[in-house]
Amino acid sequence: MNPEPGSILVTGGAGFVGSNLCLALREAMPEADIVAMDNFYRRGSELNEPRLLAAGVNVHRGDVRHADTFPRGRFDFVVECSAEPSVMAGQDGNPDYLYHTNLTGAYHCLEAARRWNAAMVFLSTSRVYPIARLESHPWTEEETRFAWQDDGVHGISSRGVTEQVDLTGARSLYGFTKLAAEQLIGEYRETYGLRAVINRCGVIAGPWQFGKIDQGVIALWVMAHHFRDALQYIGYGGTGKQVRDVLHVADACDLIIRQIRDFPAWDGWVGNVSGGLRNSLSLRELTRICQEVTGNTVPIAEVPERRPSDLRIFIGDSERVLSRTDWRPGKDPLQIVTDLHGWVRECEHSLAAHR
Ligand SMILES: NC(=O)c1ccc[n+]([C@@H]2O[C@H](COP(=O)([O-])OP(=O)(O)OC[C@H]3O[C@@H](n4cnc5c(N)ncnc54)[C@H](O)[C@@H]3O)[C@@H](O)[C@H]2O)c1
Repeated sequence: MNPEPGSILVTGGAGFVGSNLCLALREAMPEADIVAMDNFYRRGSELNEPRLLAAGVNVHRGDVRHADTFPRGRFDFVVECSAEPSVMAGQDGNPDYLYHTNLTGAYHCLEAARRWNAAMVFLSTSRVYPIARLESHPWTEEETRFAWQDDGVHGISSRGVTEQVDLTGARSLYGFTKLAAEQLIGEYRETYGLRAVINRCGVIAGPWQFGKIDQGVIALWVMAHHFRDALQYIGYGGTGKQVRDVLHVADACDLIIRQIRDFPAWDGWVGNVSGGLRNSLSLRELTRICQEVTGNTVPIAEVPERRPSDLRIFIGDSERVLSRTDWRPGKDPLQIVTDLHGWVRECEHSLAAHR
């Protein structure tokens, strides 16, 4: 093991993953200076500020789009968790915020890391994989979900998408900004010797996620069941059989902390970090778990038409990451929903104001 880092900057540190990570880092590395930088763009992120401060995490108001708003001083690590994380961003005709936060922001993080001689952990996404390739893979319809078939081609199987999949094709503007940032990181590694790891995450879920229709579906579903709001199954015939895998945010944080602690062993890593087939579920299956956990049933309308960038199935095959570490996703979908619901109940009043 390496000496513990003295200082870690988490950009997007008041967001869902960022805030959970800052608190997990605080606990794992009590001596380290942990700074959460955020511009509080995401509705709900402001609710994280008091709990970060109470835990001894410094909060710095800054915007990754503007290099001069980064904190002064130097850091040993930059964990880039800031983003406009919606796959629908830019579909309204204005990609400006998405582009500059996700791509210019990544560039500013890289420049800061270079200046500080810091190592970088970048949160990328399964959305780097081209939509047409995923959508055209053969699938079957089962009673409660769609499932990919094993046809042995394209790097996709019933276990999910591997890093071998051909990256040619469109992937949404969001996916593009993330893949472009990944490639920029690759160039910084080559040109400047920057140390970096890239985690391509699928759906991450857990407490302190302010779910919206276009991002954070598990939290959205749990909150709707708790507050008895109506929902919709959108696309693919409106049956709710579309599938995602899900990783508990605590499991994601656990892996990132292991990477920081053992960075030389991880330096250069680019790959899937996903809940995998075992942690996959369809919307219908999610509904059943939400009913079981909350005791509530809500009306769910069926909207047959799919939206642009929708995916029938996404499961990330994390075989590569699993083969290099004894890290394993510890929490299954039932535990994830139970944890989320526990948080919703605890913070019912402040959350009611944010819906
Ligand atoms: N949550 C998931 O399911 C998931 C899956 C795959 C990848 N990711 C990636 O993980 C990272 C964290 O996602 P999240 O779910 O925590 O999202 P989030 O929206 O909860 O957090 C992002 C944070 O970044 C902040 N932010 C936005 N624009 C900013 C800017 N210009 N400057 C500074 N801060 C800014 C927001 O206010 C928010 O607090 C993102 O890079 C996202 O793309 C998330």
